[in-house]
Amino acid sequence: MQSPKKPEINLYGPATERVSFLWTESLRTGHDTIDRQHQALYEAFHGITQLLEVPDVNLKYWFGLVLRKTEDYVLTHFADEEKLMTDLSYPNVHVHQLQHQEIVEALKKHQTVITQLKTDAEKRAEARALLRFLEDWLNDHVLVSDKDLVNFICQTAKGRELLS
Ligand SMILES: [Fe+2]
Ligand SMILES: [Fe+2]
Repeated sequence: MQSPKKPEINLYGPATERVSFLWTESLRTGHDTIDRQHQALYEAFHGITQLLEVPDVNLKYWFGLVLRKTEDYVLTHFADEEKLMTDLSYPNVHVHQLQHQEIVEALKKHQTVITQLKTDAEKRAEARALLRFLEDWLNDHVLVSDKDLVNFICQTAKGRELLS
């Protein structure tokens, strides 16, 4: 006799809304340092995503962790990319920088919204919305803008020198 199937645990709600923050090969740009930093960033936010689903997690602590990881992984990474762009006179530097600023602004906005919400359920929903936004934004940014930067690096003599 077949044993009853265990219900599948779905941590993140419907599949369409699932946030994973898992780095995949399709996100590889071909630049070792940038790829290593992206992988560390996805790993950090994957942990944050999982922590949000722990029952009774302290949401104030959780958001503090988001800000700390942002500081450690996102802002450092942006600064490194921006230095590379300036050093190599990358023509799309301003657009790329604006995209980086956009995500920092979005984080601040979500932080303000979260502090104004009354219940834990509302805060958690807003936190999930933040993670979804961050993941979508990062995936798009890496696939389009960061890959464009790496293509440029590969095409310039100075850039190739940096890669060797
Ligand atoms: Fe970037
Ligand atoms: Fe990047």
